[in-house]
Amino acid sequence: MTIEEIKKIAKEEIAKAENLIELDQLKIKYLGRNGYLTDVLKSLKDLAIEEKRKIGSEANALRQKLEEIFNERKNALVRNIEYKPIDISIPGKKKEIGHIHPISKIQEQIEDIFSSMGFTIAEGPEIETEFYNFDALNIPANHPARDMWDTFWLKPNPKAPTQQIENQKLLLRTHTSPVQIHYMENHQLPIRMICPGKCFRYEASDASHDFQFYQFEGLMIDKDTSLANFKFVISAFFKRFFNKKDLKVRIIPSYFPFVEPGLEVDISCPRCNQKGCPLCKNTGWIEVAGAGMVHPEVFKAVGYNPKYVQGFAFGFGIERMAMIKHNIPDIRLFNSGDLRFIKQF
Ligand code: PHE
Repeated sequence: MTIEEIKKIAKEEIAKAENLIELDQLKIKYLGRNGYLTDVLKSLKDLAIEEKRKIGSEANALRQKLEEIFNERKNALVRNIEYKPIDISIPGKKKEIGHIHPISKIQEQIEDIFSSMGFTIAEGPEIETEFYNFDALNIPANHPARDMWDTFWLKPNPKAPTQQIENQKLLLRTHTSPVQIHYMENHQLPIRMICPGKCFRYEASDASHDFQFYQFEGLMIDKDTSLANFKFVISAFFKRFFNKKDLKVRIIPSYFPFVEPGLEVDISCPRCNQKGCPLCKNTGWIEVAGAGMVHPEVFKAVGYNPKYVQGFAFGFGIERMAMIKHNIPDIRLFNSGDLRFIKQF
């Protein structure tokens, strides 16, 4: 850099220095042992006598000038530090702390209650094969019941051959029931497991349906596990979940291909205690789960002999549990990203 350049740039930079540390660094940059101005002085030795004198004195003048400017800026900064008043009445900056999503909280509560009853918590894949989501659950291709679970099919990925398990078509699971199959394939009796997880359905969203939602599967199997056991377990669960000792559970017939008999589980409306309210549509009952005794065909699909084993399965929606518990009117709020909603939990 020439003397002129140094003068110009150094002045600008010094004026911009915002604290003493920055100023010190600039001083080293320009006046230090390897600084720009020192470089100029070092290069004098190669010059003719006349030039040497001229540039030498200019450089020294600039050194003095810069020292002055440094001192002025330093004084200004120090004054600022000393006199800038601090307004201690200004409210502090609060750090926002995140918290657990209401769905995860409900999931944890459900897991706690079932764990205390001796249930294991299992997991399964969100991408499933047609076999696990449908066939093994006694829903063969062309079975009309497949209409109940319209789904998102995935395109095969030629670069990932391991994904195409035995030429099976891949899909996003429509329920957590395929975890029953995975679990039975890999475990011995007695089985007591629950499995929370995300599910997907190809359908339009409305206040009570979303194309992505959480379910909770339950499976209890042994040599003689019965519907009486089911009623006890599910009643104990709902009483604890809603913290209501007098909560009633009603079981009525329903249909799912992977259970026989198939059941619908209703609970007495925890909001109005069956006096009648919009939540229970004045019936006093709320439908909360599908369930039933595991179908012999399902046992066959996993290599169990249905003559010697029996048990029940159930599945319910986690959002729905949260909506009933916290009086939430619209399922779409959970994934809306709206902090005004999330912060209430
Ligand atoms: N998988 C069923 C559904 O998504 C619910 C269910 C689970 C029913 C287990 C019976 C037994 O609708």
